[in-house]
Amino acid sequence: MARVALVTGGTRGIGRAISVALKDAGCKVAANYGGNDAAANAFSKETGIPVHKFDVGDFNACKAGIAKVEADVGPIDVLVNNAGITRDKPLHRMERTEWDAVIATNLTSVFNMTRHVVDGMRARGFGRIINISSINGQKGQFGQCNYSAAKAGLIGFTKAVALETASKGITVNAVAPGYIATEMVMAVPKDVLDSKILPLIPVGRLGEADEIARCVAFLASDEAGFITGSTLTANGGQYMT
Ligand code: CAA
Repeated sequence: MARVALVTGGTRGIGRAISVALKDAGCKVAANYGGNDAAANAFSKETGIPVHKFDVGDFNACKAGIAKVEADVGPIDVLVNNAGITRDKPLHRMERTEWDAVIATNLTSVFNMTRHVVDGMRARGFGRIINISSINGQKGQFGQCNYSAAKAGLIGFTKAVALETASKGITVNAVAPGYIATEMVMAVPKDVLDSKILPLIPVGRLGEADEIARCVAFLASDEAGFITGSTLTANGGQYMT
């Protein structure tokens, strides 16, 4: 029986690559997205993967969205919490709204989504939860106290829920990408990217979204059942943990 996978933020960037990789691995995939209808519809047309629009920062919207996904494709076996945004600014200029938006979308979302799938996974005795963290949650980053806090928090969540679910056939892991060639990274001012980020990547290039998707597909596989509570780092050697 094909596993059912749901990928948040699964229509663009790293999430898109994850959705496609899980489909290629034989899963029945659904992709959540937050706002960009045009990109989501184009993605769905190209890949055949159904898309579901709801706000992962909203607990009740997640409950309704997950119920709809499960009605459409079946009980969720694999949840990839990938949705994320940036609102980069140094702390001394950051607004409370910019803090709240990043914490809601990048961290509270992981509670909102996982809370609504965990009962079913426990009852069925199988689950794979994969949380997309970041190098910047591991090492901190100038201009990202909100993002770094959210991405670090997600690693703590991963370890705690891994402990709670280990006896139920569920694994919970994080993947911590470095700088990947996506719209999010391309939005960093070019001079900052060229002078402050690229020179720090030992392999000498940005990563590709597919390189992260392959990490996720591995952790999502039945064969990865002995790996739980871990953080798989893929950053071209920029930060070694
Ligand atoms: N380390 C040290 N100093 C830095 C720095 C850094 N990484 N980035 C900027 N600075 C310094 C600048 O050199 C400058 O110093 P001087 O005043 O002495 O010249 C000062 O900080 C102000 O820099 P800016 O002119 O860039 O200031 P700004 O207010 O216009 O922008 C910023 C600040 C928004 C933080 C901008 O520097 C920026 O966007 N930085 C990139 C942040 C980043 O890496 N974001 C990651 C996005 S991708 C992502 O998040 C995905 C992932 O998981 C990896």
